[in-house]
Amino acid sequence: MSTTRQYAVIDPAAGKIDRRIFSEQAIYDDEMEMIFGRAWLMIGHESLVPAVDDFFHTYMGEDPVILTRDGQGRLHALLNMCRHRGNRVCRVDDGNAKRFMCTYHGWTYRNDGALEHVPGESEAYYDALDRPSLGLIEARVETYAGIIFATWAKDARSLEAYLGDARWYLDTVFNRRDGGMQALGPMKWLEPVNWKTMVDNCSDNYHVPTSHLSSARVQSRYLGRPRLSHEDQFASPNKHAFVNGHSVTFRDADDNAPRYMHGVSKETMRLFQEYHDATTPEVERRLGTFRARRVQLANHSIFPNGILGLRLALPRGPLKTEFWHFVLVDRDMPEDLKRVIRIGSQANNGAAGMFEQDDVDNWRQVSAASTSRFGRRHPQDLSMGVGHAGPHPDYPGLVSERYISESNQRLFYRRWEEFMNAGSWADIRLDPIKAHFDGTATMRG
Ligand code: FES
Ligand SMILES: [Fe+2]
Repeated sequence: MSTTRQYAVIDPAAGKIDRRIFSEQAIYDDEMEMIFGRAWLMIGHESLVPAVDDFFHTYMGEDPVILTRDGQGRLHALLNMCRHRGNRVCRVDDGNAKRFMCTYHGWTYRNDGALEHVPGESEAYYDALDRPSLGLIEARVETYAGIIFATWAKDARSLEAYLGDARWYLDTVFNRRDGGMQALGPMKWLEPVNWKTMVDNCSDNYHVPTSHLSSARVQSRYLGRPRLSHEDQFASPNKHAFVNGHSVTFRDADDNAPRYMHGVSKETMRLFQEYHDATTPEVERRLGTFRARRVQLANHSIFPNGILGLRLALPRGPLKTEFWHFVLVDRDMPEDLKRVIRIGSQANNGAAGMFEQDDVDNWRQVSAASTSRFGRRHPQDLSMGVGHAGPHPDYPGLVSERYISESNQRLFYRRWEEFMNAGSWADIRLDPIKAHFDGTATMRG
């Protein structure tokens, strides 16, 4: 561990945040150890490795990881680092392979990580090499509704405990259908931003009518989308909730309206409504009537760096983030609907997406401001809604009164602080699971 430093970067009562956390290299280095070195991290989806011996190359923070499905169908997350000198043993994005051979000296690993072959093992090493101890470094892997998470921490609590009651909300997107989901993509790009600015933004409904005004006007005019306004958001019964580091915003939905997804327009609305009507009985059986009909997960983040569905903010330095954009669709959805959602998702939140371009400009400026020698003496103000969040009779977690609030952001930075200061997982608080999970859906799907 690199640090004994104690972080105190947020004043939760005043909502003031120290800007240096968005740009200082030493803080970033501690994040890699204390957060990305031990939190459960989203790394992929089972549909990316459907068959035995499939693999998909991914990352845990900055560390390259090969996600494999071995000959028995078991998942592994293997550090892509040869145990000899350290070269990558896999140089491609995905494929199907029983083994990975390092191209420096030829050490060859099975897809479950075991070191199987070392050229000249008898002669060069005089049979003295401790081969069984030199497999690829393996992370712990667990899944939730097909989404694959991994952690380097041997003492981490279960993924189920880590997600806790956040799953009550997440199920309404990720756990709707018996057939599960399918990940399309990813589209990848680099952004000149600190990774936390993107996570913070997942609960920021405040910026939407301002930052996205022109994009929203285009959508209203050409796609028939409703107009955006602060007034509508204040008047809505929608809310934010926070559980164990995970930020969710959700809509108190109309019983018979399909949940909003990118791709909905005047022309495609019929497809969404038909699909909603056809699948609602199944969703009700899986999630219970209240969650199936009345709770629609909106923007959300999964601590530390999972964003809006299966999208990842992969840190690449204090002022650089590699963004991975997957589109998750129900596997058994009609193909024409999958196509509409994929195109709509890219048009809004892909690399050239209308909304994404507005957002990246904001995050770039927030990150850049934290490098100002004089500006950074003055903290960010995240005081909106202080004292207006708490337990709620119908919804789990710490719930804001309004849809526009900075409650989740303050709690996210508190969680960040907690991880940065924790000596071990024993110091990381997980709220007990208290929500009532009606229906048949489980962690397994
Ligand atoms: S570095 Fe991989 S075999 Fe030598
Ligand atoms: Fe936005």
